[in-house]
Amino acid sequence: MKIAVLGAGNVGGALGKLWSSRGHEVRFGVPDAKSGKIAELLASTGGRAQAGSNREAAGASEVVVLSVPWPAAEQALRDCGNISSKVVIDCTNPLRSDLKGLVLGHTTSAAEQVAAWSGAKVVKAFNTLGAGNYGNAEFAGARADGFYCGDDDAAKAKVKPLIADIGLNPVDVGPLRNARLLEPLAMLWIDLAINQGWGANHAFKLLRR
Ligand SMILES: NC(=O)c1ccc[n+]([C@@H]2O[C@H](COP(=O)([O-])OP(=O)(O)OC[C@H]3O[C@@H](n4cnc5c(N)ncnc54)[C@H](OP(=O)(O)O)[C@@H]3O)[C@@H](O)[C@H]2O)c1
Repeated sequence: MKIAVLGAGNVGGALGKLWSSRGHEVRFGVPDAKSGKIAELLASTGGRAQAGSNREAAGASEVVVLSVPWPAAEQALRDCGNISSKVVIDCTNPLRSDLKGLVLGHTTSAAEQVAAWSGAKVVKAFNTLGAGNYGNAEFAGARADGFYCGDDDAAKAKVKPLIADIGLNPVDVGPLRNARLLEPLAMLWIDLAINQGWGANHAFKLLRR
């Protein structure tokens, strides 16, 4: 799949590296494609991934992954131009700067705001566990869940194998408005990790019978 990854930090860097190792064509959209850290990231993909502006990355791709800090999200999407025909995977969490809560929720979500800004088919994914667990999601024989939600079935069908490629067990939790629940779930993960001292080695799993 041709995938644009906007933001090449903890989340975007890890996703882009793993997807390119699985044969996807990854283009990072970054503020400075010529920087040393981007050169290092591209080298770590064995030269398989590329980097450019957000517009270049999105224009060449069928799927656009939003993995920037929440305050940068609107501009990053606007920089892409018209992406209304694309699938957007929203990985963001709309965190307060003190990491003790969310700046929006209850009656909307970051994912719904991303859908309004981009006009694209948005799928929320990858937001409920730390990026250090991507590609390393086995916990004593159990595989961490990769919860995702969205309103477009064809978009979700595209995203599901991309979640499995990251080593997560994909779990469809319904329509995009359920991002209002996934974003606070991410907040719980963060609170356990940072404010309650658990560190990053934990993840959520849904049990069913
Ligand atoms: N960290 C996690 O474990 C984790 C897990 C799940 C979800 N999330 C969410 O995922 C998002 C990214 O988190 P992160 O930890 O990966 O952040 P990060 O490490 O700070 O990386 C953010 C990246 O976005 C880039 N960026 C900033 N503005 C941009 C723009 N306008 N266009 C393109 N790229 C831009 C930054 O580039 P420069 O460095 O050049 O500024 C950097 O590469 C956040 O919304 C976060 O809440 C994080």
